[in-house]
Amino acid sequence: MISQDMAALIGAQINREFYSAYFYLALSARAETMNLKGTAAWFMAKHGEELTHALKMYRYLIDQNAAVVLTGVAAPETGTDGVLRIFERTLEHERAVTSAINTILDHALSEKDHATAIFLQWFVTEQIEEEATVNDIIGRLRLFGDQGYGLLMIDNELAALAKQVGTTTGAAP
Ligand code: FEO
Repeated sequence: MISQDMAALIGAQINREFYSAYFYLALSARAETMNLKGTAAWFMAKHGEELTHALKMYRYLIDQNAAVVLTGVAAPETGTDGVLRIFERTLEHERAVTSAINTILDHALSEKDHATAIFLQWFVTEQIEEEATVNDIIGRLRLFGDQGYGLLMIDNELAALAKQVGTTTGAAP
């Protein structure tokens, strides 16, 4: 059993994870309009991964006999950003998610809620990996360029990377 406050914080995070899934779906659609098939596939894979994050938290609340309160998911901004800006926005988004997870973990520790603290460790580790991956993509876009052959090469890499998303994190491929 976890406290009502703890359940509410995890419930709010479920909403953020669903928003993340929606955000990545919008970015996948944006990449499709630019004919960046690998980038679109990568964002689609991330979309699926975020859904698994939301469901992991949902299952935790159920297992802890806590109320699940689902709230409306905000519409993601569609925008007309170029590919570098898309990944910069992705990094900003993941950093905000990391901060939210850390805040929830701080609360679990303040309540001496060891079960939730252990549960959240997985997400802490996941965020390190997610931020590192996006940082790497941004670095390559800056190095090789976000147009022409540089972009084509990175788009091909993202197609390959899309197949790996989730295989090292326990999420569905
Ligand atoms: Fe589920 Fe990328 O945070």
